[in-house]
Amino acid sequence: MARKIIVSNRLPVKIKRIENRLTFEASEGGLATGLGSVYKDGDNIWIGWPGLCLDEESEEQTAIAELQKENMQPVFLTETEIKEYYEGFSNETLWPTFHYFSQYAVYEQSYRDAYHQVNQKFCDQILKSANPGDTIWIHDYQLLLLPSMVREKLPDITIGFFQHIPFPSYEVFRMLPWRKDILQGMLGADLIGFHTYDDVRHFVSSVIHILGLAASHGIIETGNRSVMVDAFPMGIDYDKYADTAKSEKVAAIVNTFQEALRSRKIVLSIDRLDYSKGIPQRLRAFEMFLKQYPAFHEEVTLIMIVVPSRAEVEKYKELKIEVDELVGRINGSYRTLTWAPVQYYYSSFPFEELSAFYRLAHVALVTPMRDGMNLVCKEYIASRTDGTGVLILSEMAGAAKELSEAILINPNDVNQVVDALYQALTISEENQRTAIASMMVTVQKYDIHHWVNIFMDRLAYTKEKQNALKTTLLRGEIQQKLIKEYQQARQRLIFLDYDGTLMPFTRDPNKTKPDNELLNQLQALAANPANRVVIISGRDHTTLAKWLGHLPIDMIAEHGVWLREHETEWHMIQNLDNSWKEDIRPIFEMYVSRTPGTLLEEKDFALVWHYRKIDPALGETRAGELSSHLNYLIANQNLQVMEGDKIVEIKNIEVNKGIAAARWLQSYEPDFVLAVGDDRTDEDTFRMMPPEAYTIKVGNIRSVAKYHLHTTEDVRSLLQHLTGSAQ
Ligand code: UDP
Ligand code: G6P
Repeated sequence: MARKIIVSNRLPVKIKRIENRLTFEASEGGLATGLGSVYKDGDNIWIGWPGLCLDEESEEQTAIAELQKENMQPVFLTETEIKEYYEGFSNETLWPTFHYFSQYAVYEQSYRDAYHQVNQKFCDQILKSANPGDTIWIHDYQLLLLPSMVREKLPDITIGFFQHIPFPSYEVFRMLPWRKDILQGMLGADLIGFHTYDDVRHFVSSVIHILGLAASHGIIETGNRSVMVDAFPMGIDYDKYADTAKSEKVAAIVNTFQEALRSRKIVLSIDRLDYSKGIPQRLRAFEMFLKQYPAFHEEVTLIMIVVPSRAEVEKYKELKIEVDELVGRINGSYRTLTWAPVQYYYSSFPFEELSAFYRLAHVALVTPMRDGMNLVCKEYIASRTDGTGVLILSEMAGAAKELSEAILINPNDVNQVVDALYQALTISEENQRTAIASMMVTVQKYDIHHWVNIFMDRLAYTKEKQNALKTTLLRGEIQQKLIKEYQQARQRLIFLDYDGTLMPFTRDPNKTKPDNELLNQLQALAANPANRVVIISGRDHTTLAKWLGHLPIDMIAEHGVWLREHETEWHMIQNLDNSWKEDIRPIFEMYVSRTPGTLLEEKDFALVWHYRKIDPALGETRAGELSSHLNYLIANQNLQVMEGDKIVEIKNIEVNKGIAAARWLQSYEPDFVLAVGDDRTDEDTFRMMPPEAYTIKVGNIRSVAKYHLHTTEDVRSLLQHLTGSAQ
């Protein structure tokens, strides 16, 4: 039966060694707490690191056996791997970069190598368990190379990837020395999810700029697969938080806490000790609040729960010192015999106690500088079962996109945070109830189950779409069959597109001259009297004649305007009018003059704007503008605008490669037909071919062709096979 295999750096439980005994505790952090309660359906498994370096084989065996009971499989890391892969590349390179703290980022090749090696270790563990029908769901920034590693070994398996932290703007991401590998690693997945639409935009923009791939409507074409990218804001296990908050056990804890706190107003913050969480900034704002509003002295207490995190990483050590000092300073300045303004706990708490804190807090103060989502604020809302409470939430948290009824603040604006605190502590109960009720509906509806279901449905849909659009790779038996039919045929017709099919694209279209290998191949192919070789190209006929005119081949130029059978002169397919070019040319010239690096190609019956050399995103935008501009102008004229591979072309509507190719089909009545092309314009050729023809698309993207090959080299190798096997 098909299973889900969840893979993340950290398992939802962590091993601790207490007095030489191994114990198992729940892990902190949004990924583990969020997914931890739902992964166990069916015989799903979770693969990850159990959080401790075990040095003895016997300990590892104990851990494997214990984790097995919870459907978990550990990946053990050595001390060096923890240092270089986990603390190093994951948390000193990627974490700061992705949270817009690039000034903290360490670029260290040995970290990057360890990262690669550990991703490979995770891959090996997956391969031990995965069957081709399973779904692999990989999580977060520690495993960005893993999707492609798994894809390489299991090409058809379904892989989802979800990133729990922000994806930064291209301007920030591009600073990473290993940016290309990282994107390529992620693109091994079929579906890539982020918490917010901004993350999606940033990721797509990086893919377009750095890898030069085409993307539209959340679909990235990698050349051999379409990868979908979308936003899936993660939710929490709402019922678990709501039910626990209402439980008697929690009520008892609340009573004990309340007695100690003497009915003061409680402001609560809970985070891992992380510079992305804005803890010092929050403390400074609270200090300023106390300074500005003496009336609140002894009336309000900030309970600040800070969970130890990544304590070996230098920046986290520095932060710990800073937070300790700030808390000391505030309490030193304002404390009285009976009141400490900040109650600071540097530890984690059991679930019920956290729930009691959520219930007690009049205000939750959640002020990260950046946060992928932030689940604490959602947990607070779910725990407010009496309907009161106020949430102050940073705009920089992904959750702010959903919880717009919170008091939203910019964590860098101290005055705004101070005002927000005052507002939160004085707001009417009625207004509290309205905002909480509305946010509760959102948190309840979009809970963790909803999140898992919607991601999984989308993943299944993506896979179905991919399969439906898939053409078969021309290899093995199919290729043998093609060669056999070729050998047996008496009259063969072979249509070959030029750019992107026989020659790879270059930045300057004038430089794509055929090389000797290609010329020899075409010569050999055409020398066979049973073959009719037709180059069917969008290029102008002068260039084709110059580059290929000496060969015994036929040619179709300008997508079918000009035809040449090798013993005849060029002639036009029909009498065409090109007087329209006078009116349209200035528009193209305007786009060239507005966009340095682009150029205008003028053919007899077409104008083409080339934008291969410019920023791809700008190119796409301008191409869209130019197309709609042209479409507006040519209404009621016999012209057609086409967007091709980094080009926009306008031509007479009665011209297309298919119509031109039909002439050859009628004249020669072949018993073997082969058509190879890569571009949208080649689809017209494919459509016109008889059902028994071999139609081949270069690149595995949506096509009416029956088969595909990956590259121009593969095309040449096929031609080589044909000439080698010729009769
Ligand atoms: N948390 C915990 N133990 C604690 C304090 C917090 O398990 O003592 C949990 C908290 O309930 C939340 C998670 O840690 O589910 C923090 O997730 P969030 O998305 O807010 O931030 P992250 O740590 O993932 O950056
Ligand atoms: C964030 C990350 C998780 C990570 C968690 C705790 O939530 O997105 O991937 O597990 O923090 O961090 P840690 O380094 O302790 O695993």
